[in-house]
Amino acid sequence: MSRRDGQLSLGAFLLFTGHHVAAWRHPKAADSTTLADFAHFARIAEEAKFDAVFLADGVNLRSRNLDASSRKAHSGYYPFEPITLLSALAASTSRIGLVATASTSFSDPYNLARQFASLDHLSGGRAGWNLVTSADTDAAFNYSRDAIVTHADRYTRAEEFVDVVTGLWDTAEDDAYLRDRETGQYFDPGKVRELNHRGAHFQVRGPLNIARPPQGHPVVVQAGSSEPGKELAARTAEAIFTAQQTLEDAVSFYADLKGRLAKYGRSADDVKILPGVFPVVARTRAEAQDKFEQLQNLIDPVVGLDLLSGLAGVEELRNLPIDAPVPEVPDTEGGKSRRALFLDLAARENLTIRQLYLRVAGARGHWQVVGSVEDVADALEERFVAYGADGFNIMSPILPTGLTDFVELVVPELRHRGLFRTDYSGTTLREHLGLKRPGVAPAGAARKSA
Ligand SMILES: Cc1cc2nc3c(=O)[nH]c(=O)nc-3n(C[C@H](O)[C@H](O)[C@H](O)COP(=O)(O)O)c2cc1C
Repeated sequence: MSRRDGQLSLGAFLLFTGHHVAAWRHPKAADSTTLADFAHFARIAEEAKFDAVFLADGVNLRSRNLDASSRKAHSGYYPFEPITLLSALAASTSRIGLVATASTSFSDPYNLARQFASLDHLSGGRAGWNLVTSADTDAAFNYSRDAIVTHADRYTRAEEFVDVVTGLWDTAEDDAYLRDRETGQYFDPGKVRELNHRGAHFQVRGPLNIARPPQGHPVVVQAGSSEPGKELAARTAEAIFTAQQTLEDAVSFYADLKGRLAKYGRSADDVKILPGVFPVVARTRAEAQDKFEQLQNLIDPVVGLDLLSGLAGVEELRNLPIDAPVPEVPDTEGGKSRRALFLDLAARENLTIRQLYLRVAGARGHWQVVGSVEDVADALEERFVAYGADGFNIMSPILPTGLTDFVELVVPELRHRGLFRTDYSGTTLREHLGLKRPGVAPAGAARKSA
């Protein structure tokens, strides 16, 4: 089946200095330590009419192997907490969506509901929440826990967490706050209500003490691809980030996810699937390959191995000869889908440990496209037309040059093919993504279950 019309959505995944694990060592990479740096990145994406900028987040600096962590930027370090940074970026941008990552495992729903409602008001309806359960199991030790939180527990908590947050966003009608100086009525008590949620993990009375967000609900994004991850996404997410290496994987993930929506009373247009793509682009294929090699040559083997064992959740890899084949490894309570992706890749291509980290150090298992303008545009068009994606989360190898390369070279080609907007038609993130604005759910609206 191939798509006949429609335009793709584009997000700019702004991981500081760039996504390649050695980006920070590249002479063209920005330090990405100031608001000005990020305002610059966000404006590049906004001028190119991207749907959103997206900020990842983690809640621990990886300290198991401090020496290895000290040699890379992506050690769990972040220059800023994302909601704080996006609130500042709301002031220096006007149309681009602002998606921040926040964990359901190490936050409280009332606080998160307030923070994202605030970001939506501050930005005039451009907020999005990337819901993660924090697959880095060491994070638990920063939250008064002596043991990691299992994969299953993380997801049951996340299911209840998102229902409480969206329930709180519905505890006031859009026009509840009258601020009527004449009558002295600040809000209409008939349009504000308590939530009175009582569940296995949370007890939350409400109402939320902030007016209903301009979008009704900030856009809920999700990025887990395991079985519980896909069920949570099918029931609650409106945009889904995912890592899919091959066209076949992308098409089957897309069909699988969209195929789960009906049982929750949802339709295919209620959800946008936005796989990550790591594009290294230049006017010629050879030039692009050169750019990529430059980055690969900056990889410190200690860092490459650490990234692999960290993301795959396989500490054992550190103690094996680096040119040995990737061995069979036990299951994990960390991130399941990314790990499976690495091990499948290693098995499929019979890779050694060194070959595998060189393959994933750039894009961390996401889809990597190194080529000319036509190569990259063809690859994106192919996945879009084949229903492998509704758009892409652009993971620039280096910031800002990797993003400007994509914007100056690929975006005009996508427009030439009628695949991407020439200007914004709306002002909110929902309007950019073509998502409906949710009305206020009736009090006690039962959680949609399969
Ligand atoms: C594009 C993308 C971005 C992600 N960003 C984050 C992030 O910022 N913080 C985080 O803790 N996990 C992040 N993740 C990891 C997911 O939240 C999830 O833990 C991971 O995909 C494993 O999920 P699974 O166990 O359901 O397969 C991201 C995943 C993807 C695909």
